[in-house]
Amino acid sequence: MIFATILAGGTGTRMGETEKPKQFLLLGKKPILIHTIEKFALNSKFDKIIVLTPKEWINYSKDLIRQYIPQKNIIVIEGGKSRLDTLNNGIKYILENFEDNDNIIVTHDAVRPFVTHRIIEDNIKYAKKYGACDTVIPSTDTIVRSIDGEVISEIPDRNQMYQGQTPQSFNLNKLNKLLNQLTDKEKESLTDAAKIFILKGEAVYLVNGEFLNLKITHPYDLRLANSIISK
Ligand code: CTP
Repeated sequence: MIFATILAGGTGTRMGETEKPKQFLLLGKKPILIHTIEKFALNSKFDKIIVLTPKEWINYSKDLIRQYIPQKNIIVIEGGKSRLDTLNNGIKYILENFEDNDNIIVTHDAVRPFVTHRIIEDNIKYAKKYGACDTVIPSTDTIVRSIDGEVISEIPDRNQMYQGQTPQSFNLNKLNKLLNQLTDKEKESLTDAAKIFILKGEAVYLVNGEFLNLKITHPYDLRLANSIISK
């Protein structure tokens, strides 16, 4: 089976004071979250779309989805404290309810509403073929590494640098197996699901992202996204 997990468990602190977590703010005429879910709902390959939100926003999200998307294969469950905890809740939910060795999980940030059909298709294809993939774009800026935040430690070759986006997609059993092999210390250092594979020496293949597959993080990003949608 193929699952989408839409990570909407954050509160969007960098968006500043807003009446709702940023994933529920309007982009054009619809909430950001709805734009994102629609991209996945349009792809008939998904058996289930699992949306993970903060506990107090579950009913609100269910109402929103009912209002905008007629499809019945969308489930809303509780996210976690960190982004990775949210993903973990999605993994657990699938493992408990749908046993299958070949399950594929496509995980996506709720606040990247401009993900394309091509990116989603490539994620499914690569996850099936290779077991793990990550969506990236070549870095246009030079990346500078500083260990102490004061002086430059290293300037890596820009041709080898990419910016990570989402989706990130995996063979679910493999992901879960590797996750269970991590030490508590390794788990603490994790901010990214693809890193689970990297820590265990497993390959993660690159899917070409799009510059427009941007993440709405700051108020400026929402203004930019609104101007994109109005064109
Ligand atoms: N996310 C999540 N569960 C968390 C934290 C984040 O599912 N506990 C999701 C967010 O809802 C978002 C995505 O991960 O769709 C990308 O994270 P980010 O932009 O950092 O979102 P927030 O954590 O909400 O923002 P901030 O860091 O500004 O508080």
